[in-house]
Amino acid sequence: MAQFGTVFCDHFVSAKFVEDSWQPPELQPIGPIPMHPAAHVLHYASTCFEGFKAYRWKDGKARIYRLHDHVARMQKSAASLRLPIPDADMLAKMVIDLVARQIDDIPEPPSSLYLRPTLIGTVENIGAAAAPSTEALLYVIASPVGDYFSSGARTLKLLIDDQNVRTTAQLGSTKTGGNYAAALGPTLDAKAKYGVDQVLFCPGGDVQETGAANFLLISDDEVITKPLDSSFLHGMTRDSILRLAADLGYTVNERNFTVDELLQYVSTHEAALSGTAATLSPVGCLVYNGEEFTVRDGKPGPNTEKLRAALQAVQNGSAPDKHGWLTEV
Ligand SMILES: Cc1ncc(COP(=O)(O)O)c(C=O)c1O
Repeated sequence: MAQFGTVFCDHFVSAKFVEDSWQPPELQPIGPIPMHPAAHVLHYASTCFEGFKAYRWKDGKARIYRLHDHVARMQKSAASLRLPIPDADMLAKMVIDLVARQIDDIPEPPSSLYLRPTLIGTVENIGAAAAPSTEALLYVIASPVGDYFSSGARTLKLLIDDQNVRTTAQLGSTKTGGNYAAALGPTLDAKAKYGVDQVLFCPGGDVQETGAANFLLISDDEVITKPLDSSFLHGMTRDSILRLAADLGYTVNERNFTVDELLQYVSTHEAALSGTAATLSPVGCLVYNGEEFTVRDGKPGPNTEKLRAALQAVQNGSAPDKHGWLTEV
């Protein structure tokens, strides 16, 4: 399977916001989107997006994972950027229509169809640095993606960075392009210098998240992760894992912890990153102040595997959808 995110379905769906209202969405062949060089997004980064998956089950129908929660998160991102807020029913229908159109392109589980709603400010105004975009384009593209773990679960190595912030205080929980631009420099520097996979941003010692995934500590009986606040993205995978962990009898501890505490925990707890692309990925090593700390024995831990399997079972239909997370198409 091609590299994640490089192959696209041949249709996409889009809707314009002009004169204070959303125009009817159009499903059409995918292609370039015409944009004026003065478009707000190109200058002032008025953009947010979502990322989630649809799975094709043996019955030939597709199931979209946590569609309505992702639509709600997109609305929250749009509001924080003062972009026109997509109507929830309209956006959900855009996604469903696209999945229905491309259903034959969805590979068998654990592969899936990755869905990427995107909202951009299109008003032609380079004088609007301190003004919202009054026009916008909302579109959804789809990309068939393989299983992240197809070549076996590898443990990740993370740099603990207690100096840099991943993004600004006001945009921590907004899924906006600028956050990824902000994290890119420190992440590339860390890869080059320490050979790590990702940076775990821990400004002032507060363990937050990596550039594109949440961070969890997991033992035989508890899961620890930072409680929801405005500093980090409220991952749907994080939420799903916490709920499944509670169902399985784990104690869920949503609480702040420091780098010092984290380095104590790695002898007793597994560490993992959660996100749509990689579901739950084991972390085997942390680098801090030039020193390497192995997480337990450095191998993928049994509790991480168990929780990932529980999530995948809901997604592929081998376990019941007790929480109502799936939308059938
Ligand atoms: C910054 C950031 N944190 C966490 C996540 C995980 O979120 P989710 O589980 O909803 O994919 C993502 C995923 O896109 C992300 O970009």
